Amino acid sequence: MTREVWPAIERDYLACLHGAGYIGGPPVASFEQAWAAYCGTSHAVGVANGTDALELTLIALGIGPGDEVVVPTNTFIATAAAVVRAGATPRFADVSDDTLLMTPGTLSEALTPRTRAVVIVHLYGQLPEMAGLLAVAAQAGILVIEDAAQAHGAEWHGRRAGGFGDAACFSFYPGKNLGAFGDAGAVVTSRPELADRVRALANHGRASGAAHYEHDYLGTNSRLDALQAIALSGKLARLDAWTQRRIELAARYRHRLSDQAGVQVPGVSPSGRHVYHLFTVRVAARDRVRAGLARRGVETGIHYPVPCHRQPPLRRFADRPLPVAEQAAGELLSLPMFPHLTEAQVDVVCEALGDALAELAADSELADAQ
Ligand SMILES: Cc1ncc(COP(=O)(O)O)c(C=O)c1O
Repeated sequence: MTREVWPAIERDYLACLHGAGYIGGPPVASFEQAWAAYCGTSHAVGVANGTDALELTLIALGIGPGDEVVVPTNTFIATAAAVVRAGATPRFADVSDDTLLMTPGTLSEALTPRTRAVVIVHLYGQLPEMAGLLAVAAQAGILVIEDAAQAHGAEWHGRRAGGFGDAACFSFYPGKNLGAFGDAGAVVTSRPELADRVRALANHGRASGAAHYEHDYLGTNSRLDALQAIALSGKLARLDAWTQRRIELAARYRHRLSDQAGVQVPGVSPSGRHVYHLFTVRVAARDRVRAGLARRGVETGIHYPVPCHRQPPLRRFADRPLPVAEQAAGELLSLPMFPHLTEAQVDVVCEALGDALAELAADSELADAQ
């Protein structure tokens, strides 16, 4: 990816390096404008990473001690950690057995009179059933934040991730669909006062137009670096092509795995555009299958092996069993997925998966016979 994008950014990158305008400035403003336009929002605020994007959004929305925020338990820990770091209480929601995403039903079950907001996570690159979720949130009178860290350019009924909630949070961690040359993130919103507040909080509490040592809020330092903004602008021009490639590779995986016994491929909504940050399947005896794949030279990941409500620092917020996510956590397996993967490599992965499963089946037949 870097090789592909470098010729387009080399001049600006070196000019920034030699000009020493590292913090803020035109490269950041220009990426923010392009990213907001891409997401269909009026504002984007660059921040240091996706975790800060979530925490600063919650704080900017006035969420804090005494407030509850619903988050799906099947997500990266940062979604829930941001709620705790903002001083609020996460309420964990279970997920759909089919898509592994939060549903209107699981959101409803997690609501209490203290719920102030929900963080809807577009996990793996897919938006959940947004109409139902937004209707439940509207009915409950709560704020909606999208965690779109894995969903750059994903759509639901033709609308892009980032344009549904009061605000949406993106990570540009290098491995994301749009990744920087290090940590980076952004908050997008069409509420101008919210954008101003996030920007101020991320810049030591300096309100727009304030002098350098004039601080209206107690903020932090979470700014997007100019060099990262230049890399992101260059990569943004390639994002749709790279996404298209992910979609093609996913279609090949689906086709190849459709008659593979023992592999469950999560459901995809026909109303959406899944951008396949990850291609995650479910298999029984996951750890043994994974070891079989590793022996055949195929590296895999697990997203995520422990649901958030079972993580040690978050267990105190677990108030009930969340059976779908708990069951799935032992079965999830992410197969290789990145735009530069080839069709032939997808075939190798699928054959290795079939072989690993056959080996396991033969082992258990042998054990039964003994
Ligand atoms: C769903 C989700 N939320 C939040 C984050 C946090 O983003 P970052 O790593 O940029 O802090 C990530 C990425 O790691 C993520 O996948």
